[in-house]
Amino acid sequence: MIQSRGIGVSEAGKIFTDAWLGSDGKEEMQIMRTFTVLFVGLLVAIAGCSLSPKSATAGDDGRELVKLPPIMQEHMLANMRDHLAALNDLLAELAEGNIDKATAIAEERLGMSSLSLHGAVQLSKFMPQGMAMLGARMHHAASRFVIVARDAELDPGRDSQRNVYKALQEITDNCNACHQTYRIR
Ligand code: HEC
Repeated sequence: MIQSRGIGVSEAGKIFTDAWLGSDGKEEMQIMRTFTVLFVGLLVAIAGCSLSPKSATAGDDGRELVKLPPIMQEHMLANMRDHLAALNDLLAELAEGNIDKATAIAEERLGMSSLSLHGAVQLSKFMPQGMAMLGARMHHAASRFVIVARDAELDPGRDSQRNVYKALQEITDNCNACHQTYRIR
C-alpha cells in the first residue's frame, strides 16, 4: 500500500469540489490553485515513498541479502527482538547487582543453552557460512560472559569489572558484525 504523506484523497476531493462550486467569480483561480495543491501533494507522496524506511532497507545498502522462507524470516526476527530484550533484562539485573539472574538470562536466552529455544540449528541451514558463524560466536560469547561474571563475583575488583564489560561487549560485537554484513529483507 502506498502511504501518502501528501494531502489525503478525500481532503483533495473536498478542495476540488469547493473550488468548482466557488461562487465568488474566481473559479478559474481556485481551480488552478486546486491543481497546484494536488500536484504538490502528489510530489510529496512520491518523495515520501522513496524515502520511506521500507524502500531504504529494500535498496542496495551494501549488505548481503539472505533470502529466507517467510516463516523462517518471521521466526528469526522474533528471535532478534528477544535477543535485544534479553540484553536489556540482563543489564537491568547487573545494575541491581543480581548476578545470578543476569547470568541465567545470558545462558538461557543468548548462550549455548538458548540454541534449541531459538531453533538455531534449523535457521542456520538457511544462512551463508559467515552468517551462521557470527550467530554461533554470539552464543559462545554469551556463555563465556556467564563464566566471567561468576568469576568476577568470586574475585571482585577493577580488573574483574572490566572483564565483565569486555565479555558483554564480545556479545554485542557479534550482533553488530552480523547486522553490518547481512540483511534478510
Ligand atoms: C547471525 C547474524 C545476527 C546476529 C548474531 C544478530 N542479529 Fe539481529 N538481525 C540480524 C538480521 C539479518 C536482521 C534483519 C535485518 C534486516 O534485514 O532488516 C536482524 C534484526 C534484528 C532486530 C530487528 C528485529 C525486527 O523485528 O525488526 C533486532 C532488535 C536485533 N536484530 C537484535 C539483535 C541483538 C541484540 C543481537 C545480539 C545479542 C543480534 N541481533 C544478533 C542478524 C543477526
